[in-house]
Amino acid sequence: MRTFSDPEPLVWSRTRGTRIWDEDGREYLDLYAGFAVAALGYCDPRVTDAIVAQASTMTHSPSAAPTRVRAEMYERLIEIAPAGLSRVLLAITGAMANETAIQLARAATGRRTVISFSGTYLGRSVGSVCYAGKHAYRTRLGVAADAQFLPYPDPYRSPWACGADPGALVLGMLEEMIDDPASGVGAPACIVVEPIQGNGGVVIPPVGFLAGLRRLADKAGAVLLFDEIQCGFGRSGRMWACQHEGVTPDLMTIGKGIGGGVALAAILGTEEVMTNWNPDAITSTFMANALNITAGIATIDAVRKDGLAERSARLGADALARLGERLAGRTHIGDVRGRGLFIGIELVRDEGGEPDPGRAAAAVAELRARGIIVGRGGRYDNVIKLSPALVIEESDLQEGLVAVAEVLS
Ligand SMILES: Cc1ncc(COP(=O)(O)O)c(C=O)c1O
Repeated sequence: MRTFSDPEPLVWSRTRGTRIWDEDGREYLDLYAGFAVAALGYCDPRVTDAIVAQASTMTHSPSAAPTRVRAEMYERLIEIAPAGLSRVLLAITGAMANETAIQLARAATGRRTVISFSGTYLGRSVGSVCYAGKHAYRTRLGVAADAQFLPYPDPYRSPWACGADPGALVLGMLEEMIDDPASGVGAPACIVVEPIQGNGGVVIPPVGFLAGLRRLADKAGAVLLFDEIQCGFGRSGRMWACQHEGVTPDLMTIGKGIGGGVALAAILGTEEVMTNWNPDAITSTFMANALNITAGIATIDAVRKDGLAERSARLGADALARLGERLAGRTHIGDVRGRGLFIGIELVRDEGGEPDPGRAAAAVAELRARGIIVGRGGRYDNVIKLSPALVIEESDLQEGLVAVAEVLS
């Protein structure tokens, strides 16, 4: 079965830093980091060396057995976790982390209702796709939705808010849903949200929205779960996107970048929520594998040592300003937004803002022809996504941004 939809896919052969080479030897500058994974770039020698050293000592370590590397990984994660999140459960994929986190929330509250948002993407497994905003993901799998959905307050595209603050309106709706005994919605076990929506199109909610969710979760006795799998780990210019707003969830899922290119994810949580299960309540054969953990430790150390979250903030602010300037006044550019090295450019047909996925697809193809890789996402597939490695050379970033601006102009 094919896992890619592109009829003429780029065949990856070799990667290094922010470069990809295809099977014909052609070189590409990657402004997408393989779906926001390669935070350190590809094949960072610090990660590769750690993997090689670990591979000669121990590769497989079953999750049923404690190991020194696993303890070290827990320590690293607790060191970088928002204050108050002091427990860790490892996972392999982001989807696995999310489905386990929601099970934990249900166990902790004894309830089962989950509140999710339009545009949310938690993964494609049966236990995570049921909370996705895009129902097309579910239809093909024959999976039913398992959440009460509210609109995600998109500052650019919330016509229903009629000019008012969509964040405040969504919070008002949620409060009403929780308070009204006849709302049809049971007491929530969990409110799950991406502090910056990734696949939804790099959508940053209005200031105060996350704090409002914190308040309502506390009021309702629900667990607040932040999915920082795509927006976290330095991507947004802080170690975690929720730190821009100073809001700490009860549970947080992380993945993608933390494994340095190897499959690794985790749930971070409060003592209270994460001590509900007995030891061994959940497991998976490769959950605590020594190789991926070793890669994760080396990656976290490098991100901290090199101050990559701060670097992401600096480079991202500059990139956003340059793009905004170069793309100003173009009627087919609806919005240019971002935080840190996480940028979305929304393409539209006209001043009315009708999404233009065809133009976005053509731009991705034209950039690839010029040797530049970018992503595409958004609820209408009309958003060009930039999420380069946090180590990208400034000259490479400038070269890439000039090409992006030229093509989009
Ligand atoms: C925000 C978010 N959550 C969860 C996932 C799922 O992670 P995985 O593909 O590792 O299962 C993704 C993947 O794109 C994601 O962006």
